[in-house]
Amino acid sequence: MIRFKNVTKRYPGMVRSAVDGLSLEVNQGETCVFVGPSGCGKTTTLKMVNRIFEPTSGEILVNGENILSQDQDTLRQGIGYVIQKTGLFPHYTVFENVATVPRLLGWDHQRINSRVHELLRLVGLDPDENAHKYPRELSGGQSQRVGVARALAADPPVMLMDEPFGAVDPITRTQLQNEFLTLQQKVRKTICFVTHDIDEAIKMGNRIAIMNNGRLVQYDTPEKLLLAPADDFVAEFIGSDRSLKVLSLLPVPKVLKRQFRVVKETAELETVRASFDATERNRLVIEDENSNVVGYVTRGDAGKASSARGWNRFIKPFPTTLPPEATLRDALAVMLQHDVGAIPVMEHTRKFLGMVYLDDIRSYVGEAYQESEPEPAGEGAPS
Ligand SMILES: Nc1ncnc2c1ncn2[C@@H]1O[C@H](COP(=O)(O)OP(=O)(O)O)[C@@H](O)[C@H]1O
Ligand SMILES: [Mg+2]
Repeated sequence: MIRFKNVTKRYPGMVRSAVDGLSLEVNQGETCVFVGPSGCGKTTTLKMVNRIFEPTSGEILVNGENILSQDQDTLRQGIGYVIQKTGLFPHYTVFENVATVPRLLGWDHQRINSRVHELLRLVGLDPDENAHKYPRELSGGQSQRVGVARALAADPPVMLMDEPFGAVDPITRTQLQNEFLTLQQKVRKTICFVTHDIDEAIKMGNRIAIMNNGRLVQYDTPEKLLLAPADDFVAEFIGSDRSLKVLSLLPVPKVLKRQFRVVKETAELETVRASFDATERNRLVIEDENSNVVGYVTRGDAGKASSARGWNRFIKPFPTTLPPEATLRDALAVMLQHDVGAIPVMEHTRKFLGMVYLDDIRSYVGEAYQESEPEPAGEGAPS
């Protein structure tokens, strides 16, 4: 969808190229995050896509066509642009800001009106409360939301976002990131997103382009990047806690042990003992008549129980549970917090799905790292 072919930009009088031989492709409907230290060429890269700057050499293709051979106005109407300080027009209301491009395109009043209202709702702003406000009357987070709404106004297939959430406090930033991820699920734009924050890159990107001194150092999925950084620069840039970061990309179902013996709380002691005989595990999951998890029984306690006094007084509730959309990072955090080595995963209905074990997290991550290591030279030709 967007293709950079050996793109170089050298500003007049500069010794070094701001962008140096950049080649990569951004797939339709995906977010490519450009990340790297200040001055590495991220903004320059973005500004060449909507022709604020032209490359010194190389080509940028949007939809297979060189952008230099496209009409500049048509090109820009197909590209939404969001920048850090929002670039909202201070003397325009929120409504007028969002309506900018539709007005340029000559839409009729009715269509503009309904589009602006739709967009404000889409970015989480009540139109009745905000449409008439001026930018100075908005919080940082609200301004950014208006900036995003304005960029989306004419429904452009491409979005360029330059540190869009950089100027707000951390809590608002997290909120805006989450909202934008949800929004992107709906609108499926092709996005070039710039940040200097590796955590934001990992969170927002389908693919991440790490740049240094104008050059592309690695272009990979967040998972690949964390498991197999291309060189020392990348490894250092993503940080020594990369093994923890990779955990946040992996949902718990990846390591879920599903084959689990589940026994009803009304079962006979014989059934409980037979279940222990049939498993190596030292715990049974206990559920009620409605198949909701009530807790567990240990092998030791089941041994102590007698038919006369009942075994179910030994049922202990799990100290904590996880929903299936939790990540391995959540699982690890909760394990450390509760000092347990295993956590049950349950639907919100309390239906039991399986257990996550600390040991399984450890070996899954260990194996993932091993698989990502490059083949030792000489061993086995690539097929
Ligand atoms: N308009 C400009 N004129 C001259 N040099 C520029 C201009 N814009 C950026 N540069 C230089 O190009 C390099 C890359 O800048 P930029 O693309 O803004 O980096 P980033 O967005 O990664 O911080 C820097 O050395 C910067 O000083
Ligand atoms: Mg920049």
